[in-house]
Amino acid sequence: MMLEVKNLLVFFENALALNDLSIEVKPGEIVAVLGSNSAGKTTLMNTISGLILDRKKKEDRRNGERITIMGEIRYEGMEISQMWPSKRVVQGIVLCQERHPVFRDSDVLENLKIAGYLSTRRAMRERIEQIFRIFPLLERLKRRSAGLLSGGEQQMLAIGIALMANPRLLLMDEPLLGLSPLMQADLARAIAEICRTGITILLSEQFARPIMPIVDRGYVIENGTLVFSGTRDELMDNPEVKSAYLGL
Ligand SMILES: Nc1ncnc2c1ncn2[C@@H]1O[C@H](COP(=O)(O)OP(=O)(O)O)[C@@H](O)[C@H]1O
Ligand SMILES: [Mg+2]
Repeated sequence: MMLEVKNLLVFFENALALNDLSIEVKPGEIVAVLGSNSAGKTTLMNTISGLILDRKKKEDRRNGERITIMGEIRYEGMEISQMWPSKRVVQGIVLCQERHPVFRDSDVLENLKIAGYLSTRRAMRERIEQIFRIFPLLERLKRRSAGLLSGGEQQMLAIGIALMANPRLLLMDEPLLGLSPLMQADLARAIAEICRTGITILLSEQFARPIMPIVDRGYVIENGTLVFSGTRDELMDNPEVKSAYLGL
């Protein structure tokens, strides 16, 4: 198993964001976490990437909101729930956040280079070439300021930035959010291609339909609790999943 989340529980002050949640991801899979607004998708992504530890530390330091995290996160058999987010990135766990920020005044190529500043020139060049193979549009726009890109183009760049960190497990929080149907289809295809390059993918979405064609399995969460899980076909056949997340 590449990722095993076991009995995860996250409290914000007194709000229970994730309740005894367990999920698994095998190498080479594309797994979706489906849930409506405030179901706990972002909390889950931030907990797996470790960002929540950084957040908790800041809150503790200024005596702010109390955040409680319990449960296990295993990555390739290693217990990582106390591992700092930057160290998880080195281990290959990279998060592309919901509406991931880009440097708006820098152009597309500069954004990728900034994200890859730790790698050798050669590794950087190869990675950028690979990103341009996945997103040919980004190559055409490489001299354009990120701030002038459309929402979909910015999302491609955000995924490119995440790829610069050389992930083995790529986490994507609502990658299709707010994009046109055409752009969603393009991005879904690109995500499948990223998976074919050997990167395992865990993503979250509120509206499942555009992502279903490329998903192997999925988990449905409501109020931080797992309510259904299954293969793509099992999800597509489930009447509640169909009406709530597929709009069918
Ligand atoms: N920093 C926070 N403080 C308090 N409650 C939070 C915080 N972040 C998220 N929550 C709560 O946790 C639940 C899950 O939120 P979130 O993970 O953002 O859901 P989603 O990404 O699925 O919309 C929600 O009820 C939300 O209000
Ligand atoms: Mg969210």
